[in-house]
This record gives sequence, C-alpha cells and structure tokens, in this order.
Amino acid sequence: MSLNINSYSHHHRLQLKLKPIMVGELFLARKLNHPVYIYFEGLFTPVIEQGSIPTKDQISQLIKNSHREVYVYGKDEEEIKGNLEDALVKITRSLSIGDPIDNGTKGMKLLTLNLNNLYQNPHNDMLLMLQFQSSQNLGKFLIDQKKHQSQFYSNLNQENFHYTLSQPLLSSVLLLSFLQSTHLFHDKEIQNLFLTSYFKDIGLAMIPNHKYEIKNLPDQDRDLFANHSDFSFDLLDGRIPLAKNYLNLIKNHHFLNDKMKSIITGETKSLHDDDMIMGLESTLVAVFDIIVAMTHDRPYRRSLSLYQSLEVIKKMMADDYPQEFKALVSFLRQFFKN
Ligand SMILES: [Fe+2]
Repeated sequence: MSLNINSYSHHHRLQLKLKPIMVGELFLARKLNHPVYIYFEGLFTPVIEQGSIPTKDQISQLIKNSHREVYVYGKDEEEIKGNLEDALVKITRSLSIGDPIDNGTKGMKLLTLNLNNLYQNPHNDMLLMLQFQSSQNLGKFLIDQKKHQSQFYSNLNQENFHYTLSQPLLSSVLLLSFLQSTHLFHDKEIQNLFLTSYFKDIGLAMIPNHKYEIKNLPDQDRDLFANHSDFSFDLLDGRIPLAKNYLNLIKNHHFLNDKMKSIITGETKSLHDDDMIMGLESTLVAVFDIIVAMTHDRPYRRSLSLYQSLEVIKKMMADDYPQEFKALVSFLRQFFKN
C-alpha cells in the first residue's frame, strides 16, 4: 500500500486517535471511515484502506502474521463494536434455526470477541447483560447439541484467541459436557454451573493487559492475579441473576491451587484439610479450568499433554472423589478421541 506514516508529529497524532480492536472484529466492519493500522516496530502502518470493507483474505493475512490487535479510529471502533453486539443478539436468538454447527461456532466466536469489550468496560451493565443472556442461551443450546460438543470445543480452540478470552468458554464447554455425561445433574443445574464457570474470571478485567505477557511478575502483581476471583465476585454480585451459592463458588474458584502447590512441593494434602470444605460442583469447576489451562501454552510456560494434566488432577481429586475421577478420565478420552 502506498500510504506511509513518515511524519513524526502525524504518528503522535495517530497515537491519540487510534483504538485497539481484535483482528477478528474486522469481520464486523462495514465501509471503513478511516484506514486500519497495525503497530509494528514502533510505528503505526496502514494495512487496509479507508472507504473499503475488510476482506476475508486481508483479515486472514493479518492473523497469519500474528497481528492479534489492529488499530482503528474511534468512529470505526464504535461502529464495529455496535455491529458485533447486534450480531451477537441476532445469533443468540436464532441458534436453533439452521445448521447447528455453524450457529454454535458463530455464537461462541461472537461471544468471545464481545467478552473483550466487557473486560475493557466491566462496569457497563448493558454489556454484562448481553454477555449473560447470550451465554445463558448458548448453555441451553449446547445441552441440546450433545453430539456436537467436542466439535464446538475444537472450533473455538482453533481461533487462537488470547487465553484470557478463550479459557472461560473452553473450560465451561468441557464442564457442561462432562456434567451432562454423568447423568447426576439436572439441566438447570448444568446451565448454572456453565454460567458460573464462564463468568468466574471476569475479574481479570481489573488487570492491565500487558501484565499477562510478563514471565516473572513482581509480588505486587502476583497478588493482583491471586485476587481476580474476589474481583469477579465484586463485579458480579447484585448485577447478574445468578444465585449466591454460585457467586460464592466464583469467589473461591481457585481453592484447588493451594493443593496444587502442595503437590508440586511434595506435601500430601486432602481437599478436606482446607478450612473450607468444597463440594463436587466447585471441584469440577476448578478442575476443568485447570485442565484447559494446563493443556494450553502460556507466555511463561509450554502446555502439558492431556495425560500429564490428568496426572496432576489425579493427585488433586482422586482421594476425595475416586469415582468421579474415573468418570472424568473416560469422559475426556471420549471427548478428545478424534
Ligand atoms: Fe481464575
């Protein structure tokens, strides 16, 4: 492209006007009022021209070149975010009309893209309710689509979203599918646990983005991360129609981490040695969160195999829930068999 940012002051003016959006959000753009930029080697470089509609090829090329974020002017950002919300409302209302795999995959992608907007505006009630209603409908739909659940998981996994965005839904789909497979839970309970799992990390909104990429965080920042479950509770309490017992589960969703630390250091500790006795539901919410986290790369470590992850999970839950652990192993074998 012939456009070049060769003026120092022009570059700084751009810095004031441009807003970051996720590259996938470009699919929601109509005719652009201004160019789309990437930030590369300290400079904003235009990659899609003003007046055009971003094409699938252009977006795929950006994704291929690892540009997870692109920059647009405020007016374009506003229009794109509005289109994203409209598209999410539309798919949420029509999940069961037409091809279930296409609908479910689209619904999950739009929900995940929109989650980024909630992270940026966690106090926005309209965005929170849109996320709540959309994930609630998605949960019901997923329960009805038992035979496609592993396909949905795999389709979302392939999107390569930042882990703070993909982890909530991936762990919740897996949890929902497992709960359903045990035949121990009513659909309503499965739906509520799906929502609990999906919203449990919303407190990450209080952590500045760049801190996710730092390998050795200072103690102060470690505390910030450790407190995200409290932030989640505070952000959700009184704002979403989820019963108190589920909100408390969110507040305590990292209770297994202490156990994991003691496993790593070689101490043996039963789940019930903790001051708080946690039930099967909270254990499962935490376990699926840990499995998805362990089987995916993080900036500070490589992923483990499913088998290696299960070795860790075994030490965490097999003493307290031996039958459930067995069921978990056979469920995962089935879920990931392809
Ligand atoms: Fe968490």
